[in-house]
Amino acid sequence: MVAVVILAAGRGTRMKSDLPKVLHTLAGRSLVERVLDSCSLLDLERQIVIIGYQGEKVKQALSHRQDVEFVEQTEQLGTGHAVQQLIPHLQGYEGDLLVLNGDAPLLRPETLQQLVATHQEKQNAATLLTANLPNPQGYGRVFCNGDNLVSHIIEDRDCNAAQKQNRRVNAGIYCFNWQKLAESLPKLSTNNDQQEYYLTEVVDYLSRVMAHDAEDYRETNGINDRLQLSAADDVLQARIKDDWMKAGVTMFNPDSITIGEDVRLEPDVIIEPQTHLRGNTIIATGSRIGPGSLVENSKIGSGVSILYSVVTDSEVADHTKIGPYSHLRGDVKLGESCRVGNFVEIKKTTVGSNTNVAHLSYLGNATLGDRVNIGAGTITANYDGKHKHPTIIKKGTKTGSNSVLVAPVTLGENVTVAAGSVVTQDVSDNALVVARSRQKEIPDWNNEE
Ligand code: UD1
Ligand code: CA
Repeated sequence: MVAVVILAAGRGTRMKSDLPKVLHTLAGRSLVERVLDSCSLLDLERQIVIIGYQGEKVKQALSHRQDVEFVEQTEQLGTGHAVQQLIPHLQGYEGDLLVLNGDAPLLRPETLQQLVATHQEKQNAATLLTANLPNPQGYGRVFCNGDNLVSHIIEDRDCNAAQKQNRRVNAGIYCFNWQKLAESLPKLSTNNDQQEYYLTEVVDYLSRVMAHDAEDYRETNGINDRLQLSAADDVLQARIKDDWMKAGVTMFNPDSITIGEDVRLEPDVIIEPQTHLRGNTIIATGSRIGPGSLVENSKIGSGVSILYSVVTDSEVADHTKIGPYSHLRGDVKLGESCRVGNFVEIKKTTVGSNTNVAHLSYLGNATLGDRVNIGAGTITANYDGKHKHPTIIKKGTKTGSNSVLVAPVTLGENVTVAAGSVVTQDVSDNALVVARSRQKEIPDWNNEE
């Protein structure tokens, strides 16, 4: 039986922010939410978040998670004091309690699963996650007597010079036998540099306490200031990109690429430099994205290329080529083997297969059939100042350069629109439409006698 408590009452003074530290976000999700998600592989009896500084805000940010309970720590007198607040709420509870710092957002669910498994297997009073950090400054140091048995934890600021040499740190992640912890909590003192109740002091009253090293020390990174927040973002990004490369995705200059956690990529996708994939994006095999592209909440088929372009909330079928400098936004559906080229913006539009919109166009609220050719500079005038209107362009139709299609309007199949036309009325199948004034020539205009 495992319950979890997340310590999220502190202000996070070192962030120098009006926002409570645990509500700062990393790749779009708050720190506290990430910590909650790191428990996803555990079967939890209860999930408790200790709130304090701007507690209402924290509560609200988690209001969509119905299983989470909140316990208030009205004064923030230290991590030990925070856990003491649980005593009345866990009366009679006989299981284990996982205690997680709200500012450790990089933990992997597997790591917590292992920590709990070790704890239960060894029947420890406490098992804590530790790591050997290249630069342990700021962390509590963990001292063991062989066999990973912990004798004490000393905060960085309470360490003498020799103790500071110890690079094994406390990650702020613990699994406790709750009954034993509850007996020890009242013994905490404030006998330390900050005169706070430190949770780490319970180690002095419990046995057995075991240290469990994290496989990757970067998982234990805590966030106390903006530098650490940005470093954590780098760790998260590196993790996501490494995983995709291992799954068969090629990336050139991955440092310049960002990929959201919900993005899905198939093997043999190629991501070029300066490309950003966000939200609920799926890219099928053989597609080449970038350089210099942003794709957000979009479904991209296979063999697609997207060069220096922005694609949001759209769907692109196989073998279509986009860019350079195209912008697809808000519910665009492109068929197979289309070409969308330089300085083309498309919004809320469905396009059939083998259709080209190659240069300098705007298409909005339009429906295009297969094999349409949109000439350079063709514009759908879809907005009359109050409402948006539809344009329908059926299969095989060609628009001449610089045509304006004033919606609502329908062009039939195999229509040809003469260059420079302003089309205001529907056009029937197979017609040529010329909607511009005829060229007039006045001879000898400049031939004065
Ligand atoms: C803590 C540990 C340290 C460890 C480090 C790992 C203690 C005494 N020290 O130090 O050994 O190496 O984490 O990152 O525990 N909080 C409350 N109420 C309080 C105080 C803090 O809820 O009264 C919460 C904070 O919101 C935060 C978490 O506890 O999410 C940790 O607090 P913080 O002040 O960041 O502890 P550290 O000094 O980093
Ligand atoms: Ca911290």
